[in-house]
Amino acid sequence: MYSDKVMDHFMNPRNVGEIENADGIGEVGNAKCGDIMKMYLKIDDGVIVDVKFKTFGCGSAIATSSIATEMIKGKTVEEALQLTNRAVVEALDGLPAQKIHCSVLAEQAVKSALLDYARKNSLQLAGLEDFD
Ligand code: FES
Ligand code: FES
Repeated sequence: MYSDKVMDHFMNPRNVGEIENADGIGEVGNAKCGDIMKMYLKIDDGVIVDVKFKTFGCGSAIATSSIATEMIKGKTVEEALQLTNRAVVEALDGLPAQKIHCSVLAEQAVKSALLDYARKNSLQLAGLEDFD
């Protein structure tokens, strides 16, 4: 049912934890399943130099947040904004249909943290207009 990559990121999640004095913090939840995802970004000169997450949720939510942190680390803020839940699912070699919403949570957590960063720095980031 689950790919080796999903199992790997569920059993050995990368970048778990918090960042003190993070430049952007995002928190999102899914009302249906009650899962919560928190994402912390350290941003230096427009580049995501560190990222950590905490997920209170299902295995797929943990796996998607783990791989999402790997996908945005070292990227610019603009590049990270392009991260889609579909890209996250592809990077994990797929997720069962009923678990796709977990990957949406990962995309939203990244966007929520970027929005927080943009607000704190009075930046307008294209792609976040509709996100709140
Ligand atoms: Fe059970 Fe998300 S629904 S952990
Ligand atoms: Fe809700 Fe996975 S079951 S995030």
